[in-house]
Amino acid sequence: MAIAVAFSASSLPTCTVLPLQGLPGILGSPRPLQWTKKERRCRRKIGFTVTAKFDLKPPPYSLNSLEPHMSQETLEYHWGKHHRGYVENLNKQIVGTELDGMSLEDIIIVSYNKGDLLPTFNNAGQIWNHDFFWESMKPGGGGKPDGDLLELIERDFGSFEKFVEEFKSAAATQFGSGWAWLAYKANRLEVGNAVNPRPSDEDKKLVIVKSPNAVNPLVWDYSPLLTIDVWEHAYYLDFQNRRPDYISIFIEKLVSWEAVSSRLEIAKARAAEREREEERKKKEEDDKMAGGETAEVYLDNDTDDSEVE
Ligand SMILES: [Fe+2]
Repeated sequence: MAIAVAFSASSLPTCTVLPLQGLPGILGSPRPLQWTKKERRCRRKIGFTVTAKFDLKPPPYSLNSLEPHMSQETLEYHWGKHHRGYVENLNKQIVGTELDGMSLEDIIIVSYNKGDLLPTFNNAGQIWNHDFFWESMKPGGGGKPDGDLLELIERDFGSFEKFVEEFKSAAATQFGSGWAWLAYKANRLEVGNAVNPRPSDEDKKLVIVKSPNAVNPLVWDYSPLLTIDVWEHAYYLDFQNRRPDYISIFIEKLVSWEAVSSRLEIAKARAAEREREEERKKKEEDDKMAGGETAEVYLDNDTDDSEVE
């Protein structure tokens, strides 16, 4: 995200302090844009407003390098026009609103609004989803994962082949426009901004989910690991209406399992950090309760003493 500064005064200010940009990280804890005290003072002094502009992030490879499996023409339309449109629309929508300056992840969570979507949700979700989609692929991709990722896939789906079957089925049966996902579910049944659609006592497992339009698993507090775009604009130039063929090529020739593996490591670390934080809070509450009981006993003892006197 780039920061643009719009000055209300005609002359350039002498104060040049700019805000620290939020460091959202595609799977880390999103951190909104923060101002230091000095920066806030400076902002008031020179009277400018800050607008945070999101950039159109390019795929991590050239537009022709996924050929022959995904054509340059598809990338030119899909990234160069559709993805660009989402970025331009969001930048217009957030100017002057409370969303201006938030990380993309925060905008998604806030504007999801418990499923009663605010206007910015669709564009913010589509920017995030497309960034994630481009990074889910690589030239010479496909094949089979290894290491911890393969172990978890085999544990949670029975085998890699069974996982592929379920993922393909989810992507093929998403009615209309949307996405299919492999995600790491860390059993957060209480989600602040959404009703978790799959509450379960099973913990720390991989799940396959599909989502309509711009919705993604962030709104359920899952950690996305892999996605495929099943909007028609993703495949129509190369495959026309043959969505199942596009899905097969994606899995067999395009998926970057290295990207999925590194996302899994981040998701596991995030879940472990949350567990430690929750344990720390629980201990604090327990200690507070224990302290309260002690005080009560002390007061009771006082009363007893006075009665004795
Ligand atoms: Fe798309």
